[in-house]
Amino acid sequence: MLHNRIRTLAAAFTIAAAGTAQTAPQLRADNIDAVLRAMTLEEKAQLLVGDGHASFVGSGAMLGHQSRLVAGAAGQTVAIPRLGIPATVLTDGPAGVHIDARREGSTATFYATGFPVGTCLAATWNPQLVYSVGQAMGKETLEYGCDVILGPGLNIQRNPLGGRNFEYYSEDPLLTGVIGAAMIRGIQSQGVGTSPKHFAVNSQEGDRTRVDERVSQRALREIYLRGFERAVREAQPWTLMAAYNKINGTFDQGNYDLLTKVLRQDWGYKGIVMTDWIGKRDGLTTASEIHAGDNLLMPGYPDQVKDIMDGVNNGTIKQEDLDRNVREMLEYIVKSPAFRKYAYSNKPDLHAHAQITRQASAEGMVLLKNDGVLPVSALKTVALFGVNSYDFFSGGLGSGCVNVPYVVDMVQGLKNAGIATTPMLTDIYRKYVSYAAAKLKADKNPEMWFLDQGQPKLDEIDITDRLIAHEEPLADAAIITIARQAGEGMDRPASEFALSDRERDMINRVSDHFHRVGKPVIVIINSGASIETASWRDRADAILVAWQPGEEGGNSVADVLTGKVNPSGHLTVTWPVAISDDASTADFPAQPDYYALTDKFAAGNLKGVNYTNHSEDIYVGYRYYDTFGRKPAYPFGFGLSYTTFGFSRLTAKRVGSNVVVSVSVKNTGRVAGKQVAQLYVAAPKGVLEKPRKELKGFAKTRLLQPGESETLTISVPVRDLASYDTKGCRWLAEAGVYTFLVGDNVAHTPLAATLKLAEYTEKTSDALPPQSVLKVLR
Ligand code: BGC
Repeated sequence: MLHNRIRTLAAAFTIAAAGTAQTAPQLRADNIDAVLRAMTLEEKAQLLVGDGHASFVGSGAMLGHQSRLVAGAAGQTVAIPRLGIPATVLTDGPAGVHIDARREGSTATFYATGFPVGTCLAATWNPQLVYSVGQAMGKETLEYGCDVILGPGLNIQRNPLGGRNFEYYSEDPLLTGVIGAAMIRGIQSQGVGTSPKHFAVNSQEGDRTRVDERVSQRALREIYLRGFERAVREAQPWTLMAAYNKINGTFDQGNYDLLTKVLRQDWGYKGIVMTDWIGKRDGLTTASEIHAGDNLLMPGYPDQVKDIMDGVNNGTIKQEDLDRNVREMLEYIVKSPAFRKYAYSNKPDLHAHAQITRQASAEGMVLLKNDGVLPVSALKTVALFGVNSYDFFSGGLGSGCVNVPYVVDMVQGLKNAGIATTPMLTDIYRKYVSYAAAKLKADKNPEMWFLDQGQPKLDEIDITDRLIAHEEPLADAAIITIARQAGEGMDRPASEFALSDRERDMINRVSDHFHRVGKPVIVIINSGASIETASWRDRADAILVAWQPGEEGGNSVADVLTGKVNPSGHLTVTWPVAISDDASTADFPAQPDYYALTDKFAAGNLKGVNYTNHSEDIYVGYRYYDTFGRKPAYPFGFGLSYTTFGFSRLTAKRVGSNVVVSVSVKNTGRVAGKQVAQLYVAAPKGVLEKPRKELKGFAKTRLLQPGESETLTISVPVRDLASYDTKGCRWLAEAGVYTFLVGDNVAHTPLAATLKLAEYTEKTSDALPPQSVLKVLR
């Protein structure tokens, strides 16, 4: 109650009201038209511009922390008390609620649960589990007084170097859409909104606020937009965030084709669109943003309110566009907790949510290699190498980080599972971690604000033979953590894909020593994105990808290592042998560092003139490797288990507008486990060129006991088999014989069934045409 009162008071000064409170209608779900009629032009303009201005402009406040109502939340909308319109609060996401953990003048804490990053969640291939994570995230959003959480991130992981890959789900649009829809439904089941982002093609961070993403209409529809499309159609997010970048010459936030033709006309979207946090753009008028269907300009500047009022007065903004955008804002507001005066507690059940994040991250971890050393049995003491064993990356950097109450690192996680770490090594690393944290703070560049999230990136410890020789006799095994951090505003340099000399040296020396006496070496990869593995994997007996698994990370790793949880995660991106193998790398901005990049862009360009070609077109990720016979280090969909599974009895039949595929999965090994049946479809040869096969569905078993089977059913709408036919502006699934392949990764599909299908077509708008400079594309 108290918080709601503060909310109303804080908002009360925002609007110079016209008319009196007695005569003005008060907003209800059933009187939106009346309220719209009662609004002055200024009030309408205010409602379309975020309430960032009072606190932000000229104050030096940090971008993405503009809410006055909830400290540390990303922003808020304007309140108009005269009409009973409350302010609503938008908080970052997507790995949990991003608000300040402490507030001035208060001893209370406002920590939020750090859930696994997007890639880890998607690697569960378990939409139900993701739904339950969404429910927990939605509860925290609600109980911390927020109305919308800014996520999930639905961009395609186009290249392993993408700076925000960790926030996104996959290189594949179907997986992105299914996991995204589950997350949105989970969060929104709690009566708060989501904002899938960044719509669209924000698949690089390099020059993200200016770059023009040049991409064919076919790749747009089939790869970059399709995940958003599924999420919109299946889960109806309340809001959607337009990306900073341009697509084919036009900024997304002022792109009529994107925000109206595709999103609203083709997909039937009913929610609001907000901009990413930037304000006015060079070469884009506020009027064109309003026309494009951008309802909410974030974080919001006074100039933009004036622009809207001037635009309506001078005719550059049509009254009907203005009213449409305002009406949609009001429709959004009546759904919000702020509108129903929800009495939030500031006390979400962090304890219960810790259990959910622990379970989800364990299920998302991917076992890449196991020479029989896992699960560990009778392991008493380990020598734990790598600085991030002691300073585990629970999440990524930037707006997507969460102020977590704690992070369970590897030492703690192992300890909780009854496994000790060798004392001297632990002490050396612990001291180093404190030193590195202090150094980072002292060296902090104020513009790199997102590096101030307490996570040292350095590893300056030389693991000498003498040190290892001292540790080895005290330990039953060695565990080495190799970690990578990434964040907003910059992509990873190619050098970070490879191991550093120091890391390579550490793996070599540790494995030499431990293998000499027959003790195992286990490598944990603590990274939100892929790294190079092919050159060193022979040195490890087991490799587990832990991703950035949230605050319970160390416990989840221990759960998997000890076999408490049998790994069932599968890669959602291809792991290349070399970064240059990836079809998109040639066009991907390689950034030595942020400042060099900015200078290069300012001076002209890194590659071309502030644009990125998508020359690989539809051949993103496995679509390239699989079609053109390139062998990756680990294929899309790959993931081992402590047991074995067999697939059998595959059938595919047409039922109405779907193809229904059924397959039996049997646990043929000795321990209980879950398996994912991945359904790939190879299309008949026709007019449109196609990838060799594409993921069209998947299903995960329950926990199967040894010898137990489960029949999984996967329903594929025929519409999903279609490719985009640019010439005809339509979805087209050509007539012919389709092959339905089932397996446990894209390179292993032992079962196949065929089905003859008639042609399917569906008209779309003609949107987002590429410019003529895009010669490389069809
Ligand atoms: C990011 C968004 C984020 C917003 C608000 C932007 O810089 O790109 O993902 O939601 O800031 O913090």
